[in-house]
Amino acid sequence: MEPVDRHEAADEIRRLCTEADTEADRTLLRDLGDAISVGDISQATGIAIGRNIRQVVNRFELSPGAVAALIDFRADLGRSFGIDASQYRLGALLAEKTRGFVGREHIFRAVDQFFRTHSSGYFVVHGPPGAGKSAFLAEYVRRSGCLAHVNSRGLGVTSAAQFIENISAQIIADAGLPYAALPAGATADGAFLLKILEEARHRLGADERLVIAVDALDEATASDRDGANILFLPPVLPDGVYFVLTRRDADIPLVAQAPIGTLDISDYPDENTSDTRQYVRKALTRPRLRTWVSTRSLDESDFIAALAELSENNFMYLFHVLPEIESGVYRDLAIEQLPVGLVGYYEDHWVRMGMAVKPLPRVKLRLIYLLGEARKPISRRLLSELATDPAIRADEIDVQEVLDEWLQFLLEDRLDDHPRYSIYHTSFRDFLHRKDIVQAAGVTIEGIHRLIADNLWTSVFET
Ligand SMILES: Nc1ncnc2c1ncn2[C@@H]1O[C@H](COP(=O)(O)OP(=O)(O)O)[C@@H](O)[C@H]1O
Ligand SMILES: [Mg+2]
Repeated sequence: MEPVDRHEAADEIRRLCTEADTEADRTLLRDLGDAISVGDISQATGIAIGRNIRQVVNRFELSPGAVAALIDFRADLGRSFGIDASQYRLGALLAEKTRGFVGREHIFRAVDQFFRTHSSGYFVVHGPPGAGKSAFLAEYVRRSGCLAHVNSRGLGVTSAAQFIENISAQIIADAGLPYAALPAGATADGAFLLKILEEARHRLGADERLVIAVDALDEATASDRDGANILFLPPVLPDGVYFVLTRRDADIPLVAQAPIGTLDISDYPDENTSDTRQYVRKALTRPRLRTWVSTRSLDESDFIAALAELSENNFMYLFHVLPEIESGVYRDLAIEQLPVGLVGYYEDHWVRMGMAVKPLPRVKLRLIYLLGEARKPISRRLLSELATDPAIRADEIDVQEVLDEWLQFLLEDRLDDHPRYSIYHTSFRDFLHRKDIVQAAGVTIEGIHRLIADNLWTSVFET
């Protein structure tokens, strides 16, 4: 995942001045560009600037990189409240998730329709892993500039307290509320969040909405308070305040007097087919894919239809399999022999990487399971230290080999010279947890946890 280039973003935003109609807009863009290029988040400037981010993203056509820089900047404003904001920077993730975004117009329409027919409320989008929930939400944030929080087990962002501090800081910046710090106890329940939502509401213009996007409720820790919603989501919402939430099909109760709308992605098979086909059609402009298709004397439209069907209309499948076709992995195969469904693809890759041969590749297995269980991105060095014990030695070459073979399943965080890795998508972690796979791999999840606990203190994750 590439870090966001704030200087490029700043230049782009300043260039927009020429398109702006009013002097006020020109000043706004210039100030925002300047603040981003110097990274100035001092309280006064930061707060003044924070108010404009949503407007600028919403009203001007910006590149994904520039939006990413603005979203990161808004998260960084939390630093002036003493928050460790680096964990909430979404810019690079949003840019990555929305690269080559297609379709999903029916979901955008449903959200709009809900907003138009309710004065406040929760809109929940749910569906199976890889169906494109996170990408939809990322695109929603990219288009609207709305406030956002992403729950992620692999990145260690799962608690209600993290959600409240991150979103509260964004609300304060967005509405320009007069807080120099979050009060003590602000993250202990949902009371403070509701209070500032009320305060922010009073600062909204007529017909203006405050929208908060929250991804992957299924990756957040369940509330241990009786009767409290996950993430302490408030049962009542002020007028003009909306949440757009995503989750898997799991049962995650949300109890609220505020209206709740839901959209089940699986209820739209035609739209899912048409959107995944569009994704394949777009990919078919790439020369190697075209060659693969033409050497099999396939019709392009047949290829498009077949791949969408093989994927079971799953974007994550296409995200993996199309590049594999291009890189020659399926060189000798006919289209009928491609893996079926996302899980079929994982099984296929597992076997191809020699994870299921006897004697078992114990070092590799241990490394991949460690990656799967980590709650923070981990570096190559740490991975090799963790995987080594008196019985097994994992050197950096072993680690590199695993990283190379599994890179497409990993999120590479390259904020500094030491890249760190986490699992890209929870569906892969689910695969690792499947009973037959765990058993065949000769590991136990408890054993992996013990290894982590023996070697690892939380501070080790931070190296
Ligand atoms: N509408 C879309 N257009 C383009 N790519 C998409 C789209 N939806 C999903 N993807 C791709 O598929 C991957 C998996 O989708 P994701 O949104 O993470 O699934 P989910 O959150 O439902 O499990 C994303 O990383 C993205 O690359
Ligand atoms: Mg997701």
